[in-house]
Amino acid sequence: MLSEAQIQQISEFTQQHLQKTFVVSEQQWVRDFPRAAEHRWYHTLNVLQNTEKIVAGDKIPQDVADAARVAAILHDVSIFECDHSMHGRTGAETAKGFLSQNQYDPDFIARATRAIDEHGTDFDTLTPNEMGQQFSPEGKILIEADILDKLGAAAVSGALLILGKQARLGFECHELLSNSNAMQRATYFKDYIWSQTAKRMANQRFSFFLKFLEQLSEEVVEGPVADP
Ligand SMILES: [Fe+2]
Ligand SMILES: [Fe+2]
Repeated sequence: MLSEAQIQQISEFTQQHLQKTFVVSEQQWVRDFPRAAEHRWYHTLNVLQNTEKIVAGDKIPQDVADAARVAAILHDVSIFECDHSMHGRTGAETAKGFLSQNQYDPDFIARATRAIDEHGTDFDTLTPNEMGQQFSPEGKILIEADILDKLGAAAVSGALLILGKQARLGFECHELLSNSNAMQRATYFKDYIWSQTAKRMANQRFSFFLKFLEQLSEEVVEGPVADP
Protein backbone atom coordinates (compact mmCIF):
# COMPACT_ATOMS: atom_id res chain seq x y z
CA MET A 1 0.00 0.00 0.00
CA LEU A 2 1.23 3.48 -0.87
CA SER A 3 2.15 5.65 2.11
CA GLU A 4 1.33 9.33 2.55
CA ALA A 5 5.06 10.03 2.32
CA GLN A 6 5.24 8.29 -1.08
CA ILE A 7 2.26 10.25 -2.41
CA GLN A 8 3.93 13.41 -1.15
CA GLN A 9 7.27 12.58 -2.79
CA ILE A 10 5.67 11.76 -6.17
CA SER A 11 3.61 14.95 -5.96
CA GLU A 12 6.67 17.08 -5.23
CA PHE A 13 8.56 15.52 -8.13
CA THR A 14 5.63 16.17 -10.50
CA GLN A 15 5.13 19.75 -9.37
CA GLN A 16 8.85 20.52 -9.69
CA HIS A 17 9.11 18.82 -13.10
CA LEU A 18 6.14 20.83 -14.38
CA GLN A 19 7.69 24.07 -13.14
CA LYS A 20 11.15 23.26 -14.54
CA THR A 21 9.89 22.27 -18.00
CA PHE A 22 7.39 25.15 -18.12
CA VAL A 23 10.16 27.73 -17.62
CA VAL A 24 12.24 26.48 -20.58
CA SER A 25 9.39 25.54 -22.92
CA GLU A 26 9.39 27.35 -26.24
CA GLN A 27 5.95 26.16 -27.29
CA GLN A 28 3.71 29.11 -28.10
CA TRP A 29 0.68 27.93 -26.12
CA VAL A 30 2.90 27.61 -23.05
CA ARG A 31 4.44 31.06 -23.53
CA ASP A 32 0.94 32.52 -23.93
CA PHE A 33 -0.19 31.10 -20.57
CA PRO A 34 1.98 32.54 -17.76
CA ARG A 35 0.33 30.43 -15.02
CA ALA A 36 0.26 27.19 -17.02
CA ALA A 37 2.36 25.22 -14.50
CA GLU A 38 0.07 26.14 -11.60
CA HIS A 39 -2.99 25.45 -13.75
CA ARG A 40 -1.68 22.01 -14.67
CA TRP A 41 -0.85 21.15 -11.08
CA TYR A 42 -4.34 22.07 -9.86
CA HIS A 43 -5.84 20.06 -12.74
CA THR A 44 -3.67 17.15 -11.52
CA LEU A 45 -5.08 17.52 -8.00
CA ASN A 46 -8.63 17.45 -9.43
CA VAL A 47 -7.79 14.27 -11.35
CA LEU A 48 -6.37 12.69 -8.19
CA GLN A 49 -9.48 13.66 -6.25
CA ASN A 50 -11.70 12.15 -8.98
CA THR A 51 -9.57 8.99 -8.85
CA GLU A 52 -10.13 8.70 -5.09
CA LYS A 53 -13.89 8.97 -5.62
CA ILE A 54 -13.88 6.30 -8.33
CA VAL A 55 -11.73 3.81 -6.40
CA ALA A 56 -13.81 4.25 -3.24
CA GLY A 57 -17.17 4.19 -5.05
CA ASP A 58 -16.39 1.15 -7.19
CA LYS A 59 -14.44 -0.64 -4.43
CA ILE A 60 -11.40 -1.00 -6.66
CA PRO A 61 -8.75 -3.48 -5.34
CA GLN A 62 -5.83 -1.89 -3.50
CA ASP A 63 -3.15 -2.72 -6.08
CA VAL A 64 -5.14 -1.22 -8.97
CA ALA A 65 -6.13 1.79 -6.85
CA ASP A 66 -2.50 2.54 -5.91
CA ALA A 67 -1.26 2.31 -9.50
CA ALA A 68 -4.16 4.55 -10.59
CA ARG A 69 -3.28 7.12 -7.89
CA VAL A 70 0.34 7.29 -9.02
CA ALA A 71 -0.74 7.49 -12.66
CA ALA A 72 -3.11 10.34 -11.78
CA ILE A 73 -0.36 12.37 -10.12
CA LEU A 74 2.12 11.82 -12.96
CA HIS A 75 -0.24 11.73 -15.95
CA ASP A 76 0.54 15.20 -17.36
CA VAL A 77 4.08 15.49 -16.00
CA SER A 78 5.57 15.93 -19.50
CA ILE A 79 2.90 18.22 -20.93
CA PHE A 80 5.35 21.12 -21.44
CA GLU A 81 8.25 19.18 -22.92
CA CYS A 82 6.77 17.61 -26.04
CA ASP A 83 4.02 17.85 -28.60
CA HIS A 84 0.61 17.22 -27.02
CA SER A 85 0.14 14.07 -29.10
CA MET A 86 3.22 12.59 -27.37
CA HIS A 87 2.61 13.67 -23.77
CA GLY A 88 1.22 10.29 -22.69
CA ARG A 89 4.19 8.35 -24.07
CA THR A 90 6.79 10.89 -22.88
CA GLY A 91 5.09 11.21 -19.49
CA ALA A 92 5.20 7.43 -19.08
CA GLU A 93 8.98 7.51 -19.70
CA THR A 94 9.51 10.38 -17.25
CA ALA A 95 7.42 8.54 -14.65
CA LYS A 96 9.32 5.31 -15.25
CA GLY A 97 12.64 7.08 -14.66
CA PHE A 98 11.47 8.60 -11.39
CA LEU A 99 9.73 5.49 -10.05
CA SER A 100 12.66 3.21 -10.97
CA GLN A 101 15.13 5.54 -9.27
CA ASN A 102 13.00 5.33 -6.16
CA GLN A 103 12.90 1.53 -6.15
CA TYR A 104 9.23 0.92 -6.85
CA ASP A 105 8.31 -2.61 -7.82
CA PRO A 106 8.77 -3.19 -11.60
CA ASP A 107 5.27 -4.62 -11.98
CA PHE A 108 3.79 -1.58 -10.20
CA ILE A 109 5.83 0.77 -12.42
CA ALA A 110 4.63 -1.07 -15.54
CA ARG A 111 0.99 -0.69 -14.52
CA ALA A 112 1.20 2.99 -13.61
CA THR A 113 3.18 3.92 -16.72
CA ARG A 114 0.94 1.90 -19.04
CA ALA A 115 -2.00 3.94 -17.72
CA ILE A 116 -0.16 7.22 -18.36
CA ASP A 117 0.68 6.11 -21.88
CA GLU A 118 -2.92 5.02 -22.51
CA HIS A 119 -4.37 8.37 -21.44
CA GLY A 120 -2.39 10.02 -24.25
CA THR A 121 -4.08 7.90 -26.95
CA ASP A 122 -5.66 9.68 -29.89
CA PHE A 123 -9.33 9.13 -28.99
CA ASP A 124 -10.38 9.34 -32.65
CA THR A 125 -8.77 5.94 -33.20
CA LEU A 126 -10.92 4.01 -30.68
CA THR A 127 -14.61 4.02 -29.71
CA PRO A 128 -15.49 4.04 -25.99
CA ASN A 129 -16.34 0.35 -26.32
CA GLU A 130 -13.04 -0.58 -27.97
CA MET A 131 -11.10 1.41 -25.42
CA GLY A 132 -13.07 -0.23 -22.63
CA GLN A 133 -12.06 -3.66 -23.91
CA GLN A 134 -8.43 -2.95 -24.74
CA PHE A 135 -7.22 -0.67 -21.96
CA SER A 136 -5.90 -1.60 -18.52
CA PRO A 137 -8.08 -1.04 -15.42
CA GLU A 138 -5.70 1.67 -14.21
CA GLY A 139 -5.72 3.37 -17.63
CA LYS A 140 -9.51 3.50 -17.68
CA ILE A 141 -9.69 4.98 -14.18
CA LEU A 142 -7.15 7.65 -15.16
CA ILE A 143 -8.98 8.52 -18.37
CA GLU A 144 -12.31 8.81 -16.55
CA ALA A 145 -10.82 10.89 -13.77
CA ASP A 146 -9.20 13.19 -16.35
CA ILE A 147 -12.37 13.55 -18.41
CA LEU A 148 -14.48 14.30 -15.34
CA ASP A 149 -12.47 17.52 -15.02
CA LYS A 150 -13.78 18.61 -18.43
CA LEU A 151 -17.50 18.10 -17.92
CA GLY A 152 -19.07 20.26 -15.25
CA ALA A 153 -18.60 23.48 -13.29
CA ALA A 154 -14.85 23.30 -13.93
CA ALA A 155 -15.49 23.31 -17.68
CA VAL A 156 -17.91 26.23 -17.37
CA SER A 157 -15.57 28.34 -15.25
CA GLY A 158 -12.60 27.53 -17.51
CA ALA A 159 -14.55 28.60 -20.60
CA LEU A 160 -15.78 31.79 -18.90
CA LEU A 161 -12.23 32.72 -17.91
CA ILE A 162 -11.19 32.41 -21.56
CA LEU A 163 -14.15 34.55 -22.65
CA GLY A 164 -13.21 37.14 -20.01
CA LYS A 165 -9.69 37.32 -21.43
CA GLN A 166 -11.23 38.00 -24.85
CA ALA A 167 -13.21 40.92 -23.36
CA ARG A 168 -16.51 39.19 -23.99
CA LEU A 169 -19.68 40.45 -22.30
CA GLY A 170 -22.44 38.61 -20.49
CA PHE A 171 -25.01 38.84 -23.28
CA GLU A 172 -22.61 36.98 -25.60
CA CYS A 173 -21.85 34.13 -23.20
CA HIS A 174 -24.75 31.79 -23.90
CA GLU A 175 -23.98 31.51 -27.58
CA LEU A 176 -20.22 31.44 -27.13
CA LEU A 177 -20.39 28.84 -24.35
CA SER A 178 -22.80 26.66 -26.35
CA ASN A 179 -20.31 26.60 -29.22
CA SER A 180 -17.16 26.62 -27.08
CA ASN A 181 -14.29 24.14 -27.13
CA ALA A 182 -15.35 23.28 -23.60
CA MET A 183 -18.81 22.20 -24.78
CA GLN A 184 -17.40 20.32 -27.78
CA ARG A 185 -14.86 18.52 -25.59
CA ALA A 186 -17.44 17.64 -22.94
CA THR A 187 -19.88 16.30 -25.54
CA TYR A 188 -17.18 14.24 -27.24
CA PHE A 189 -15.45 12.80 -24.17
CA LYS A 190 -18.41 12.17 -21.86
CA ASP A 191 -18.92 8.66 -23.25
CA TYR A 192 -15.35 7.52 -22.53
CA ILE A 193 -16.42 6.47 -19.05
CA TRP A 194 -16.74 2.92 -17.76
CA SER A 195 -17.08 2.63 -13.98
CA GLN A 196 -20.44 3.08 -12.25
CA THR A 197 -19.12 5.86 -10.02
CA ALA A 198 -17.59 7.83 -12.88
CA LYS A 199 -20.78 7.39 -14.94
CA ARG A 200 -22.82 8.89 -12.11
CA MET A 201 -20.36 11.76 -11.70
CA ALA A 202 -20.18 12.37 -15.47
CA ASN A 203 -23.97 12.51 -15.81
CA GLN A 204 -24.29 14.88 -12.90
CA ARG A 205 -21.49 17.15 -14.15
CA PHE A 206 -22.57 17.28 -17.79
CA SER A 207 -26.20 17.90 -16.78
CA PHE A 208 -24.94 20.82 -14.70
CA PHE A 209 -23.22 22.28 -17.78
CA LEU A 210 -26.46 22.02 -19.79
CA LYS A 211 -28.51 23.33 -16.87
CA PHE A 212 -26.18 26.31 -16.53
CA LEU A 213 -26.74 27.20 -20.18
CA GLU A 214 -30.49 26.80 -19.79
CA GLN A 215 -30.55 29.05 -16.73
CA LEU A 216 -28.33 31.62 -18.45
CA SER A 217 -30.65 31.79 -21.41
CA GLU A 218 -33.59 32.22 -19.05
CA GLU A 219 -31.97 35.13 -17.22
CA VAL A 220 -29.94 37.00 -19.83
CA VAL A 221 -31.21 38.81 -22.91
CA GLU A 222 -28.87 37.82 -25.70
CA GLY A 223 -27.41 40.24 -28.18
CA PRO A 224 -25.41 39.83 -31.34
CA VAL A 225 -21.98 38.31 -30.79
CA ALA A 226 -19.36 40.85 -31.83
CA ASP A 227 -16.30 39.96 -33.90
CA PRO A 228 -13.38 39.45 -31.47
FE1 LIG B 1 -3.12 14.54 -20.45
FE1 LIG C 1 -4.95 15.72 -17.66
